[in-house]
Amino acid sequence: MSNSFRLYVKNAKQVVLVCNNGERFLTQEAMKKLSVIENCSLIIGKDGMLKAVGPADSIESQFKGATFDKVINAAGMCVIPGLIDAHTHPVWAGDRVHEFAMKLAGATYMEVHEAGGGIHFTVEHTRQASKDQLLSSLTQRLTRMLRSGTTLVECKSGYGLELDTELKMLMVIETARRNLDIGISSTYCGAHAVPKGKMVSEATEDIIKVQLPKLKEKMAQGQLKVDNIDVFCEKGVFDLDSTRAILQAGKDMGLQINFHGDELNPMNAAQLGAELGALAISHLEEVTNEGIAAMAKAKTSAVLLPTTAYILRLPQPRARDMLDGGVIVALGSDFNPNAYCCSMPMVMHLACVNMRMTMNEALAAATINAAYALGLSHSHGSLEVGKQADLLIINSSRWEHLIYQFGGHQELIKYVIIKGNIV
Ligand code: NIG
Ligand code: FE
Repeated sequence: MSNSFRLYVKNAKQVVLVCNNGERFLTQEAMKKLSVIENCSLIIGKDGMLKAVGPADSIESQFKGATFDKVINAAGMCVIPGLIDAHTHPVWAGDRVHEFAMKLAGATYMEVHEAGGGIHFTVEHTRQASKDQLLSSLTQRLTRMLRSGTTLVECKSGYGLELDTELKMLMVIETARRNLDIGISSTYCGAHAVPKGKMVSEATEDIIKVQLPKLKEKMAQGQLKVDNIDVFCEKGVFDLDSTRAILQAGKDMGLQINFHGDELNPMNAAQLGAELGALAISHLEEVTNEGIAAMAKAKTSAVLLPTTAYILRLPQPRARDMLDGGVIVALGSDFNPNAYCCSMPMVMHLACVNMRMTMNEALAAATINAAYALGLSHSHGSLEVGKQADLLIINSSRWEHLIYQFGGHQELIKYVIIKGNIV
């Protein structure tokens, strides 16, 4: 074995591994009690993978004589896995701050949408924007997320609603994936809204017969890597049958199913996702008991988005019922022009206060379970030997300060480390 390593993080007051037995997700009691080591050190290899984690004394003697590119003395500080944001819409142009004022004055999300605002407003501006403009704003947004501790993020298309703009968005995400430090899971969300002047059936046909085949071609040519397929399954948007058809077509070409469901109206989206073997369903403010049971049984994770319920003053997602019912609960920021939040610590804070999750549950939901929702929990989401070394060093002797102190928490994040590199 080589005696030369990339990074030695030594003497941390507390390292929250999250889990330590190769679990791919956590539920129920396991989410309440995370795996933690006091006075702990970590070693990261030249390949960016975690080589060792354990009590500081034993790591010190085990690696005596080894050389390291960098050593961080983390005395008095805490280490947690990098945060994973399982749901974002970060590629768009145009400013919707005026809609915030409308919503504060009482307009609902669908009223803004039906008045030609919301997604349609963003679609118009995104269609007109160049790739360079979109890449530049995406880079700024992802950088803000990184500074808030996000090391892996799901990024959706969905402000094109026709082939060229959807491809433009996916290519912008692909460029970011290849060039930025932050990890990216890419999602095709061509069914984010029904294009103006089209029927649901026409939009569904266009997606299945035109957009998905083109995507498949680009993927086969190695121009694009797309991981997930998403649909906004909602009354007045895509109904259950069109959602099923689009998701099935995506699954048939190897995409993971990860979609918006049961947000504003109960649609039985949870049952549909469970039936199709979806990896994740987001929102779920209006999920039924049957939907919760179906998701728990199928191991379809729930990506809960506390920012959306907060900003739209919706009923809170039934996090406690899902957690107690054995659903794999993950968290996402839902960053988009409606819910303008880049910060997973803020998301965890809202999840604890408004959705009654414990801080341990919120951290599990923002790490190992978010990795599961993206099909990446074999390599991400916990500090276990053999996994990618994505971690945060928190400048506090208790990691919970990251959730407790809301707003301005960047001061608390001393280092963001991705693949063993300080970024
Ligand atoms: O997840 N619900 C649908 N999509 C987004 C909102 C997108 C937008 O308003 O631009 C969401 O909240
Ligand atoms: Fe969303």
